[in-house]
Amino acid sequence: MPRYPDTLIDLIRERVDLLELVGRRVTLKKQGTGWLGLCPFHNEKTPSFSVRPDKGYKCFGCGEGGDAFDFVMKSRGMGFNEAVEELAAMTGIPLPRDAPEDAETVRRGELRRRILELLAAVRSWYQEELTAPGGNPARRYLADRGLKPETVQNEGVGYAPSGWSRLLDRFGGGEAAGELLELAGLVTRKAPGERLYDRFRDRIVFPIHDLKGRCVGFGGRLMGPGEPKYLNSPETEVFQKGKLLYGLETAREAIRKSGAAIVVEGYMDRLSLVDKGVLPVVATLGTALTPDHLRLLWQQTRRIHFCFDGDAAGEKAAWRALELFFDGLEADRHATFLFLPPGEDPDDVVRREGAEGFARRIEGAISPIEFLVRRLGAGLNAADPEGRAALMHRARPLLAKVKDPLLRELYAESLGQRLHIPSRFSQGIRPPETRPARVSFPASRPVQRGQTPSQRDHEQALLALLLRHPRLAREREEELSRLQLENGQLAALLTELIEWGQQGDDIAGRWPPERFSTPEMARRVQEILAAEELSPDLAEEEFDGCLISVHVKTLRRERMNLMRRIELEGDHDQTLTSRCRALKLEERRVLERKIVRDEAR
Ligand code: UTP
Ligand code: MN
Repeated sequence: MPRYPDTLIDLIRERVDLLELVGRRVTLKKQGTGWLGLCPFHNEKTPSFSVRPDKGYKCFGCGEGGDAFDFVMKSRGMGFNEAVEELAAMTGIPLPRDAPEDAETVRRGELRRRILELLAAVRSWYQEELTAPGGNPARRYLADRGLKPETVQNEGVGYAPSGWSRLLDRFGGGEAAGELLELAGLVTRKAPGERLYDRFRDRIVFPIHDLKGRCVGFGGRLMGPGEPKYLNSPETEVFQKGKLLYGLETAREAIRKSGAAIVVEGYMDRLSLVDKGVLPVVATLGTALTPDHLRLLWQQTRRIHFCFDGDAAGEKAAWRALELFFDGLEADRHATFLFLPPGEDPDDVVRREGAEGFARRIEGAISPIEFLVRRLGAGLNAADPEGRAALMHRARPLLAKVKDPLLRELYAESLGQRLHIPSRFSQGIRPPETRPARVSFPASRPVQRGQTPSQRDHEQALLALLLRHPRLAREREEELSRLQLENGQLAALLTELIEWGQQGDDIAGRWPPERFSTPEMARRVQEILAAEELSPDLAEEEFDGCLISVHVKTLRRERMNLMRRIELEGDHDQTLTSRCRALKLEERRVLERKIVRDEAR
C-alpha cells in the first residue's frame, strides 16, 4: 500500500539525480541525448542500458525499464515505500510522519529496534566465542567440514558456548534485559513463569540476515550427535522463517552478476558451496519454500535453480517448488530443478566435484516441463495413448496457474510436443477467472470501415494494397521479402506478387487474374479485393502501417519459436537467447519507426 502522497513522490522523482543513482552501479557514457552502459539486470557485453536523466532508464536488451523508484526497487530488492524512503534520504526531502502513529505502532517500532540492536550484539559475541579458546572444538568442526576460516569469518558464523546461562549472564542483567532476550528468541523457558535459559548451547550458530543486512535470528547446529541437529530462532517480531532466506543479502551481488540464484535446503550446503566459489546461493531455513520466498527471489533475479536431495523428501519439496513456480508465473522467469544422487546434498557434491562439477550439474538440471512429465507420468505409460492423455489432463490445472498467457500456451505446447499430442489439445488452457490478453497492433488507420483497428487483418490488407498498387511490390521488395505471413495462402500469394515485381512485368497497375498460378489463388484475389475497401489517396501510408504490423508480428512469432526451442532444448551457450534479444531489439526499432511515422503525420 502506497504510504506517501503522489505529490511527494513526484517531487522526489524530480529532485533525484538519476545519473548519480544509476551511476553508483553502472558506468555510463554519454551517447547522443542520453547515457549508455552495461545493463545491471542481465549479463551483457555490449551496452544496451540507456539512461535519460529526465525520462528514466531502459534496457534494450532485457526490456527492464522505469524511473528512479523502479531502479531502486529492482536493484536493491526493495518495496515501493522503502524505495521512496531511500530516495527521500538521498534527495534530502523530509518525509511526513503521515498518519500520526498510534501508541501501539510506536511501541512496536521501538521494540523491533531494540531487538535488532541486541541481535547484532549477540551475533558479535557468538563470533568472539568462536575465536576464544572455548571455541576450539567448534573451529575444528568447521574445518573438518571443509570450510576455510575466511568463509566462516565472512559469513559471520559463530559459536554459542555450552552452559545454560552464558548469554543470559552476558546480556541479561535485570528483568527487562531477560525479557528482551526472550522476545529476540535467544532465551526460553520450560513453562511460563519458570526460569529463563539460553536457547543455543554448544552449537555452531549461523546468523540469518534480512535484506538490509540486519541480523534477525540464528540457526544453530550441534557438533556431535543429539537432537535436534539444527535449531532455529523461533518466530519473533523480526524473524519469520517463511519470509527469510539464509544468505540472501550476502549472495545478492553474486546473484545479480551471475543472473541466477541457486536455492538449497541447508545452512551447510550454502556455506560449503560459497566456500568452493559457488556464490549465488541461498538456503531455506528448514521449512518448505513459501510464496514469500519466491517473491523475494524474483525481486533479485529472473532465473532460479532449485537443488534437492534425490530422495522422496527432496522430490516432494521440489514438487512444492514447482507448484509455487507456476502459480502466477510471469514471462521471462525461469527455473530449473536439480536432483542430486539419493543420499547426497549439495555439500557432498561440491566437496567431491568442486565448483565446476557443481556448475555442470546445474547446467544439466531439468526444466519445469521435464520435471512435470517425470512426476505426473509416474505410474502412467507415456508411450500409450491413455497414459499420454491422462498426463495431459493432470497437467492442465497446474499449467492453468501460469499467469502469462503466452507462456502458458508455450508450456502447454511444449508439453504436448513431448507427449506427441496434437496441438489443438494442448491449446486453450486458461486460468478460470481471467481471459488472456490479445496481442494486437492497432492499424494507424482502419482500412475497412466498420471494423476496429485491432480486428483488422493486416496480412490481407497488405495484399489488397499490393494488388491495387503493383508498383509497391517492386519498390518495397526488400521489406516485403522479410515477412513471414501467418496465413499460408496469403504467404503464397505474396511470393507470387514479389516474383512478378522482380520480373519487372509491366502490368499497368493491375494484376490480371489469369496470371495467378491456380484458379483458387485467382479467386482468393477477388475475395481480398472485395473485402478490403481501400482509400486510394492513402495507399502508401496504409501500406506502411500494414507492413510494420506484419513485420512486428513476424518478429514476434520468430521470437516465440526461439523461446519454445529454448524451453525444449535449453540454451547453454546463450545463442538462442541472444537471438531472441536481437529480435526484440529489432521489434523495438520497427515500432519506433512507427511512432516517428505517426508523429510526422
Ligand atoms: P539436513 O538434515 O538435510 O542436514 O537438514 P544438512 O543440511 O545436510 O546438514 P549437515 O550437513 O548434516 O550439517 C537440512 C536443513 O533442514 C533444517 C536446517 O535448516 C538444515 O540446514 N533442519 C534440519 C532443522 O531445522 N532441524 C533439524 O533438526 C534438521
Ligand atoms: Mn549435509
